[in-house]
Amino acid sequence: MALLDLTEVSIRFGGVQALLDVSLQVREGEIVGLIGPNGAGKTTLFNCITGVLRPDSGHIAYDGKDLAGVKTHRRARLGMARTFQNLQLFGRMSVLENVMVPIDAFSPGTPVGDAFRLPTARFEERKAEERARALLYFLDLLDVADLQAGDLSVGMQRRLELARALASNPRLLLLDEPAAGLDARETAALADVLFRIREQFKVTMLLVDHDMALVMRACDHIYVLDFGRIISEGPPEDVRDDPEVIQAYLGEVA
Ligand SMILES: Nc1ncnc2c1ncn2[C@@H]1O[C@H](COP(=O)(O)OP(=O)(O)OP(=O)(O)O)[C@@H](O)[C@H]1O
Ligand SMILES: [Mg+2]
Repeated sequence: MALLDLTEVSIRFGGVQALLDVSLQVREGEIVGLIGPNGAGKTTLFNCITGVLRPDSGHIAYDGKDLAGVKTHRRARLGMARTFQNLQLFGRMSVLENVMVPIDAFSPGTPVGDAFRLPTARFEERKAEERARALLYFLDLLDVADLQAGDLSVGMQRRLELARALASNPRLLLLDEPAAGLDARETAALADVLFRIREQFKVTMLLVDHDMALVMRACDHIYVLDFGRIISEGPPEDVRDDPEVIQAYLGEVA
């Protein structure tokens, strides 16, 4: 059974058919790629999966359960986390605080306990900070834990987004262009970061990116979107050689 299972998902914005009958499966433990030219519908698909948008038709199942009517925050509780194409960090907060926000949100502390700083609340806080520091260490950001997030390089900010997404203990991680703005060396290193994340946290991933080398190297299976439709899918080497895919990308360059 797939962890994430989309069946004929469609959504339209006015005259734009952003997604049409998109069916896609992500099995537990896989890193699945979703590629396609600008405007193909990749981010829209993420928004449907996380519940930000409601598809006009089709079904999205997670862990065997239909997600229709399940709110975004509830989907997060069920183990879905995402990163954003346009970085969405708290730029004025420290790197450490950025990772602690989701940990606090997911910890069982009570507002009263927190307000009066009861011993349990202090204990929870210390545990949360320890976990945040462990995540920062894992993503090679511990040295900059006290800097403001907005002062980091793009490469570090992208890693911080990963740390923050992992802080909620996800089972499924949706990555929207994690290599955007990275230099060649950082992009090359990212595939290994994703493999380490999978190994350490047993996280399943759906990866959107324009960097073909990254997607080809990191993914077990790839889906190609073009104008809202899946035009190809398969193992990386099959997709790379598919004439329809080559045509879709040539069309983008022309
Ligand atoms: N909220 C919205 N309202 C209206 N149109 C939208 C909305 N969101 C997306 N679209 C349109 O839907 C289509 C798909 O957009 P989407 O952002 O999903 O593409 P994408 O594949 O993520 O592209 P990119 O690679 O540039 O990020 C585009 O034509 C876009 O203009
Ligand atoms: Mg996008």
